[in-house]
Amino acid sequence: MKVRELRQKYLDFFISKGHSLYPSGSLIPYDVTGRLDESLLFNGAGMVQFKPFFRGIAEPPNRRLTNAQKVVRTGDIESVGNHSHLTFFEMLGNFSFGDYFKQEAIAFSWEFLTAPQWLNLDPRRLAFTVFEEDDEAFEHWSAHLAPLGIEPTSRIFRLGEETNYWPAGAFSSGPPGPCGPNSEMFYWTSNDVPPPPTVAGGYDRDGFLRDDAAKLWLEIWNDVFIQYEWQGEPLEEGGYRKTGMPSLPFQSVDTGMGLERTATALGGYRSVYDTDAFSGIIKLIDRLSAEFASSTATYGQDTARDTAVRIIADHIRTASFCIADGILPSNTGRGYVLRRLIRRAVLKGQRVLGFEDLFLYRVVDGVVESLGDHYHELVDRRSVIAETLKNEEALFRRTLDQGSEILLQALARRKGEVLDGEVAFMLYDTYGFPLEVTQELCEEAGVTVDLAGYKAALAEAQERSRGADQRESVYGGVGVAFVFITDDGKATPTEFLGYSETETDAVIVGALPQADENGKAVAEFAVALNQTPFYAESGGQVADTGVLIVEDTRFNVVDVTKHDGVWVHVVVPDVPLGHEGMPVDQAQVFLLERLMKRKTRAVVDTNRRTDVIRNHTATHLLHAALRDTLGTHVTQAGSLVAPDHLRFDFTHGKAMSAEEISRVEGIVNEHVLSAEGVTIYSDVPLDEARAMGAMALFGEKYADRVRVVQVGDMSPDRPSFSRELCGGIHVRNTGQIGLFKILHESSAASGVRRVTAITGRGSHRWANELHGNLHEVAEIVKSTPKDLRQAVERLLDQVREERKRREQAELKAARGGGSNGSGHPIVEIGPVSLMTAKFEIDPKLAAQEVDDAVAQRPNLVVVAACILDGKVTFVAKAGPKAVESGAHAGNLVREVAKAAGGGGGGGPTYATAGGRDLAKVDEALESAVQVLRAAVDG
Ligand code: SER
Repeated sequence: MKVRELRQKYLDFFISKGHSLYPSGSLIPYDVTGRLDESLLFNGAGMVQFKPFFRGIAEPPNRRLTNAQKVVRTGDIESVGNHSHLTFFEMLGNFSFGDYFKQEAIAFSWEFLTAPQWLNLDPRRLAFTVFEEDDEAFEHWSAHLAPLGIEPTSRIFRLGEETNYWPAGAFSSGPPGPCGPNSEMFYWTSNDVPPPPTVAGGYDRDGFLRDDAAKLWLEIWNDVFIQYEWQGEPLEEGGYRKTGMPSLPFQSVDTGMGLERTATALGGYRSVYDTDAFSGIIKLIDRLSAEFASSTATYGQDTARDTAVRIIADHIRTASFCIADGILPSNTGRGYVLRRLIRRAVLKGQRVLGFEDLFLYRVVDGVVESLGDHYHELVDRRSVIAETLKNEEALFRRTLDQGSEILLQALARRKGEVLDGEVAFMLYDTYGFPLEVTQELCEEAGVTVDLAGYKAALAEAQERSRGADQRESVYGGVGVAFVFITDDGKATPTEFLGYSETETDAVIVGALPQADENGKAVAEFAVALNQTPFYAESGGQVADTGVLIVEDTRFNVVDVTKHDGVWVHVVVPDVPLGHEGMPVDQAQVFLLERLMKRKTRAVVDTNRRTDVIRNHTATHLLHAALRDTLGTHVTQAGSLVAPDHLRFDFTHGKAMSAEEISRVEGIVNEHVLSAEGVTIYSDVPLDEARAMGAMALFGEKYADRVRVVQVGDMSPDRPSFSRELCGGIHVRNTGQIGLFKILHESSAASGVRRVTAITGRGSHRWANELHGNLHEVAEIVKSTPKDLRQAVERLLDQVREERKRREQAELKAARGGGSNGSGHPIVEIGPVSLMTAKFEIDPKLAAQEVDDAVAQRPNLVVVAACILDGKVTFVAKAGPKAVESGAHAGNLVREVAKAAGGGGGGGPTYATAGGRDLAKVDEALESAVQVLRAAVDG
């Protein structure tokens, strides 16, 4: 069965059982409320995005959902290349949130596996495991087996929490979150009959787990019976300490079937790479290697090549999906995992398959072809995926040579058969060599890497960067207790009125003190309201500021953030309330008594808000203009919309030219000058928004209903200049934006450019300042702004003239008088004369002076020190006779410069060198006598 068919069958089956299809969550582990699960690097299971549904803190569109979830698991990246390990796979799942439970979940699984119109598997080829204490699950499976005459104990096995609890081992050791016992389904993959029963009537669990049998029983599906919330605290040494495991408000089901693996088992394939999930990608790699690496080899002929092909095929899928979800290669977190995968694939392509040039981006087509029909983001983001891979591969190929050189040197110096862990870390840190790359290169030389040393160096570096992070994250992190609980025990979500209002009445529904490092309350605290006009920071747009007026007291709102639907206003009162310095729990009581249920007037600073929204709409125009000008690979990679400027990061591999910048600026200003309407479509189903051509932002999590912001043409059916999914606030008409001016264009990260620009009052201020400066400068040079250029050029000419005159005067003074007519000392060394001189003139002028001296005396050697602008340059010249006698200007100047802490050299007749230590110049010149004497004598 094809992977595509299996996916469709699964989803159809569960839709026929009353489930709704839910889109895959992003690989960045956002949950359905848009909150990032900080405990995870990647989305590693279908249930991750649904945690708020299991907890009952968000309402699912249907209590039965089904999906195919993109999953990245990088725990055993080293094993990739064999026949079964993948870093990316699809997980099919069906979910119940307080709807059906064990019995129905097991019945659904049984029906899908065995019914003729679904997978039609022979029940005798199936086995099941249940958590050792789970009698119910045992009974439910038995009820399906017994009527067919299959002895339940021969097919159902009770195992411990390592295999039969989700997450693995969660019963004792966490991690925190929804959890429960699970039941796994196994398929007998061999043509032989399963091994004979080990005890009367069936196997015992040891028989089931026996090595030879275990390999042939392939796990294909897992039903989890989510019931509890595992609670615990992180331990310093890693892991968690359990503090409790209360029941969740209702019982739920989470199931997961590994798509590629199941297709392999059902299709009787030897390897996941033989399924259609990979065959197209592998064929493409073969074709590319014939075309670009002039190789006639194809997959299946050579073990080493096959392994490399599998690694590339796996990593390109993972990389494409990561980039499509907004992850870019970097040196930390998800970005670093991505970088490792790309670099490892490039290394295999270069060293094993012989790709001399960039190739990885060409393989993207294979991924889009095999998966793009189900995962539209691959199609939508095809160009940014390709562009990012191209840039990263080019960057890596440049450092590869440099790093390999260093590695070779280190290998030559190493003691024994082990490479120093510090060197491996330095290669990673400085040259971007992922550990696996260093390991692979070492392996070729028969050397292993000192892993402990590498880890120690890495841990130290991480410690350093963590320190830096913590300073910035005041309100970040999971579990920040900004949940305001009302009388009925529920968190009150805040109603946001800020799209239409900037001032409203509201009621205070929660207050939370902030503590200093000693646990004492500070003046600043947090307030929640039933409704608010304040925009909370999101999507790059900064939070509103303003005031909350409670009777006569003014609370200045300095920041607003959103947590689980609650707007948290961080306020500083004009006059102290009296809670400052109290222990926090006491301050908490004080604030609640004083503020709970109080009426307040919430007033946004509208001037600032208007400046912000000008910049926000301008950001949308900029985004569209960049795509028009540079290409559709341009995708937003970050943005800041502040009152005084906007900053926009986007994927693009090279600096923009002055013409491109001016073109983009021109396009945006044209749209401003035509005063186009801005239309907001709120509450649009995500699919419809996509059909309208609305751009979804990179790495952003969207709910199933979205808001679309459109600039220009009012009709949703016709293409408009800019249409984006966006929750931000915008101007009504582009005319409000005013002049749009780009101030800087620079690099933000590898493959990412950054534009900073201003609008409205900001560009008016900027123009005024510029104009003012121009006038001032013109006045200084006694000119007018209009004639400034000629005036400055005239001035510069004068300066140049003046300098020339000064140098000539100095030269004349330097020549002076004295016995040899130059004023510089001459020492006779055998047949050679040595003249040393010190000038404070341009080295070029000095060289001319030296030339003149030697032209007159062929046996003369001159060493001159030229000191200018705090730097010293040594110039040496040897006449033809002096060279015949053994003098060598290059050797001489090298030694002399060395004495002044510098270096350089050249040929026998003329050479220059730089020095660092001005205080040693005299000493250095004196040393020339010795050096020359040695040369002439020798
Ligand atoms: N969460 C479970 C797993 O990943 C079932 O979906 O196995």
